[in-house]
Amino acid sequence: MQKFSKPNTSTKLISEIGVGVMPFSRPGASLDVAVEVLHYCLNSGISLLNTADVYAPSADQIGHNENVVREALDQWDGERENIVVVTKNGLTREGTQWSRNGSKEHLLRAAEASGKKLGFVPDLILHHRIDRTRPFAEQAKAMVAVHQAGLAKRIGFSNVTALEYDIAQQETGGMIAAIENERSPRFRDHTDVLERCARDEIAFLAWSPLGGENDAKNLGELYPKFQQVANEVGATAQQIALRWLKLQSPSMVPIPGFTKISTAKSSIASMDIKLTDDQLARLNSSPAGDGSVYPD
Ligand SMILES: NC(=O)c1ccc[n+]([C@@H]2O[C@H](COP(=O)([O-])OP(=O)(O)OC[C@H]3O[C@@H](n4cnc5c(N)ncnc54)[C@H](OP(=O)(O)O)[C@@H]3O)[C@@H](O)[C@H]2O)c1
Repeated sequence: MQKFSKPNTSTKLISEIGVGVMPFSRPGASLDVAVEVLHYCLNSGISLLNTADVYAPSADQIGHNENVVREALDQWDGERENIVVVTKNGLTREGTQWSRNGSKEHLLRAAEASGKKLGFVPDLILHHRIDRTRPFAEQAKAMVAVHQAGLAKRIGFSNVTALEYDIAQQETGGMIAAIENERSPRFRDHTDVLERCARDEIAFLAWSPLGGENDAKNLGELYPKFQQVANEVGATAQQIALRWLKLQSPSMVPIPGFTKISTAKSSIASMDIKLTDDQLARLNSSPAGDGSVYPD
């Protein structure tokens, strides 16, 4: 796989796609399968694992997904220092209720807990979703405090608009190391955020790049232009979606979720697909889908 350097994101190299580890915390998910699939990814050159404290089968298991990442890395005999681990804080869960807490106290406490679950200081902690009950500038400054406390090597933000990106850069003194926003055949917003990431040479981690579990299964039917191009180049519609995303910007890093080696393998192979300008133009003209998978 080709690799590229994002100096502000990490001193490490980031592979063309990362892995969204979230599906391994669905109720009933097997840790053994998670470790096997993640090892396949790491051994194939994927160097970015994406997790969050709230990815857990239930509210009383916060940190579950971070623990999956820890197990996978502890049992892996590759070069651990080459891997970038991204986690996210700022959401809370109680029973079936998900809430947001962007207070400095919570963000510091959550960052410390993430480090304990992972067993190391995360390479990158992202503010997961803006807490609309507090000024965003205050929350951006709280992320600087997380960094200054030594709880994250670098900091960034998830689910932000271009205006919020500008505020965060200003309040943090240009410390944003990565953004994690939704982008897929289904959801095409945030082009202005992607452009800012390219300008500032930081990664744009595209979440739910196949439109989430449901769209991913039927991508070719939902977005026929992707299926048409897939037929032309002998690939699948999902592979075309990942390659199309990747080609949108040098900052773009799609982070698909996998629960199988076969889908991991197919996604990694998609990065070698060549698409013509005409094919890309047709994919760009494909109408977007039903809006965000997880609306704000
Ligand atoms: N920051 C945020 O607010 C936020 C929100 C949502 C998600 N995320 C992150 O984004 C990651 C990915 O999102 P997601 O898991 O919701 O959606 P996704 O990546 O769009 O879709 C996941 C589905 O795609 C399938 N898949 C993956 N590669 C494939 C391939 N090459 N061919 C066919 N199917 C393929 C997987 O199948 P199998 O299970 O069969 O392998 C899985 O069902 C999450 O894991 C999480 O880390 C972040």
